Amino acid sequence: MTSTAMSLKAIVFCILTWVSLATGDRVYIHPFHLLFYSKSSCAELENPNAETPPEPTFAPVPIQAKTSPVDEKTLHDQLVLATEKLGSEDRQRAAQVAMIANFMGFRMYKMLSEAGGVASGAILSPPALFGTLVSFYLGSLDPTASQLQALLGVPVKDRDCTSRLDGHKVLAALQAIQGLLVTQGDTSSQAHLLQSTIVGLFTAPGLRLKQPFVQGLAPFAPAVFPRSLDLATDPGLATEKINRFIKAVTGWKMNLPLEGVSADSTLLFNTYVHFQGKMKGFSQLAGPREFWVDNSTTVSVPMLSGTGTFQHWSDSQNNFSMTRVPLGESATLLLIQPHCISDLDRVEALVFQHDFLTRIKNPPPRTIRLTLPQLEIQGSYNLQDLLAQAKLSTLLGAEANLGKISDTNPRVGEVLNSVLFELKAGEEEQPTESAQQSGSPEALDVTLSSPFLFAIYERYLGALHFLGRMGNPQSVL
Ligand SMILES: *[C@@H]1O[C@H](CO)[C@@H](O)[C@H](O)[C@H]1NC(C)=O
Ligand SMILES: *[C@@H]1O[C@H](CO)[C@@H](O)[C@H](O)[C@H]1NC(C)=O
Repeated sequence: MTSTAMSLKAIVFCILTWVSLATGDRVYIHPFHLLFYSKSSCAELENPNAETPPEPTFAPVPIQAKTSPVDEKTLHDQLVLATEKLGSEDRQRAAQVAMIANFMGFRMYKMLSEAGGVASGAILSPPALFGTLVSFYLGSLDPTASQLQALLGVPVKDRDCTSRLDGHKVLAALQAIQGLLVTQGDTSSQAHLLQSTIVGLFTAPGLRLKQPFVQGLAPFAPAVFPRSLDLATDPGLATEKINRFIKAVTGWKMNLPLEGVSADSTLLFNTYVHFQGKMKGFSQLAGPREFWVDNSTTVSVPMLSGTGTFQHWSDSQNNFSMTRVPLGESATLLLIQPHCISDLDRVEALVFQHDFLTRIKNPPPRTIRLTLPQLEIQGSYNLQDLLAQAKLSTLLGAEANLGKISDTNPRVGEVLNSVLFELKAGEEEQPTESAQQSGSPEALDVTLSSPFLFAIYERYLGALHFLGRMGNPQSVL
């Protein structure tokens, strides 16, 4: 009893610290009423006379290795369709969610970095991370619901229902965020940006999930796979089965963590994100090129090059350069290169902060010949580890009240976010050396042949989609 009480106190303390940090940021003066329950929904929720029928539940089917892969093009088209229907209020909601998701993304990137998880490379998806936490919020009851809401950055005021986040509205906003990244200006059928999010809900046999909860996840992840399997007898085997299933269902060439299932858990919530981008006007250079991993080691890696009109500026006080490359009408790639190879950690701590986007300068674009490694990065992180790092390990621990996920309170094990990120050349053929030069006599040469940071964001909402670090292109696969 005593230890439970203490750990709950610890959560509240840590959340308060987090929130006071958050409210110190000017981002948080924005009203979030569009994301809260309306007065009428609250009246319904709080009506003591209302007979709420028990929510229907179902037993997930057993996991199987043989499954046909999802059609990413179909998922993409659904996303585009949903985005076309957005009204102005939907966009406002999306902008608010983008703001708090960005904030969460930087906090968690810092946790990941402090845990030593980024040395040779890292890729983190703020929307996936945020969506995962909102999914748990959707499945939780107090006190867990209030704690999660505080973690999301918008604490409940005086237990007032109209200051509670409507999880469905937040997930719908997250869908808009994902949609705007891939649809803006992309009227042709040959999309050059594709992004898919898939959720695997792995349960111990006997755990029944609530249907409204699983259905509620659809805006976050259009493909949700609830599957049951024995998690307790052989956790290693369970991990293997999960990985085989995910590979079959996604068809993605990705390496997944080989451990992580804990024997006493009854629910794993895994999110898999695939980003595929093609850089228009870029082609792959013939043969591998040198990339300096540190000041005495090189590796040979495939590189891309292209000449275009980009924004580039140098921060001579802090010794780094940034290059902004449009990937679509509003999708943007930012490349951040320290001037000195051994300076990556310092620059990372400096730029990957909540005010990142507001610190981006807007110099006149100029002709640049940009050369960079082909970006193929995979990353997996367990949210439970990041929460533990933030001293919030009990938030989704045994005491968590997840009564809207299942009638039998689940014990949450691993909460994995896996990202497969691919940014490749958009052109098949490499233009001849002479054509490149004659077309751009005044081009500035920018070559990323040593460790750098990058981010993908969407300019319309200011939503960060990926935060990445390329330390060694050979060891991030
Ligand atoms: C090479 O890097 C190390 C740290 O990584 C640094 O101590 C050393 O001074 C560097 N050498 C040169 C020649 O820059
Ligand atoms: C930037 O580089 C200059 C020259 O090498 C150095 O004097 C200065 O301390 C560096 N600034 C930072 C913030 O590291």
